[in-house]
Amino acid sequence: KQISVLGVPMDLGADRRGVDMGPSAIRCAGLEARLEQLGYAVQDEGDLVVRRAKAYSSTLPETNMKYAYEIVRVNEELAEKVAAITAAGDWFPLILGGDHSIAIGTLAGVTRYKERIGVIWYDAHGDVNTPDTSPSGNIHGMALAAALGFGHPALTGIGIGSGGVPRIDPRNVVLVGARSLDPGERIFLKQHGVTVYTMHEIDRIGISAVMEQAVRLASAGTEGVHLSLDLDGLDPEDAPGVGTPVPAGISLRESLLAMEILSASGLLTSAEFVEVNPVLDLRNKTAKAAVELIASLLGETIM
Ligand code: ARG
Ligand code: MN
Ligand code: MN
Ligand code: MN
Repeated sequence: KQISVLGVPMDLGADRRGVDMGPSAIRCAGLEARLEQLGYAVQDEGDLVVRRAKAYSSTLPETNMKYAYEIVRVNEELAEKVAAITAAGDWFPLILGGDHSIAIGTLAGVTRYKERIGVIWYDAHGDVNTPDTSPSGNIHGMALAAALGFGHPALTGIGIGSGGVPRIDPRNVVLVGARSLDPGERIFLKQHGVTVYTMHEIDRIGISAVMEQAVRLASAGTEGVHLSLDLDGLDPEDAPGVGTPVPAGISLRESLLAMEILSASGLLTSAEFVEVNPVLDLRNKTAKAAVELIASLLGETIM
């Protein structure tokens, strides 16, 4: 029972500044004490350094990918850090964002010593744009595509090198909570066989059935499941401190149940919580929600 916490104060992948303060906000909401109450030994690795001077954060030539240079550099470092945390096999990596572009580094890191891994992507968005389909040039909207090996080589090579093949099969990837997909993303998801549980399915069959199916699909033939939770997957009422809120989302109550189901599966091997933006938040409500979710994910129960 050992958890390694690592913060990535990155906001270059998103349009609105402030999500770089996410790791601080989540720590301030009492993360470490909460995990210790659950009986875990917690090692806080601190935060990676993200440089924000213009010279470092330029867009790569001939792409629309904003701040690509620094985002690639940080994700390379993140991949190495996460790989090192998982090397011995007895530390659970818990990554705090930062915008969702950090999932590229996290996923490259957690797959270093594992043959195959499944991913539950809990998010209002798909984040499967490529530079060709992205309406914004924001790399947080390209993170999942890049982790699956699609998009600009500067992104798809992160942590695995230019010739490397990602150890994630799109059939082991499940989106939960989707309600804002770009036209190119819909095509991508169908083409590659990613399972998508939109708000429609959540409302029709309920979050518990959705999560049970998600766990089954993500774990089929894999060595573990990674949770990538974007706080904008939740309804903005419960998680107002996010840069790209989308109404009619998953409630905190449903999300806590989702975490409990994932926890009970015993299949979770790593997790990241991203897109908490304290500048846009109300009295740290979103970071507090993140801590509640993390506690449920890691075994907290009411009785
Ligand atoms: N699909 C939009 C884009 O590509 C929004 C992405 C939002 N992603 C996120 N991680 N919040 O720009
Ligand atoms: Mn996202
Ligand atoms: Mn999102
Ligand atoms: Mn509680």
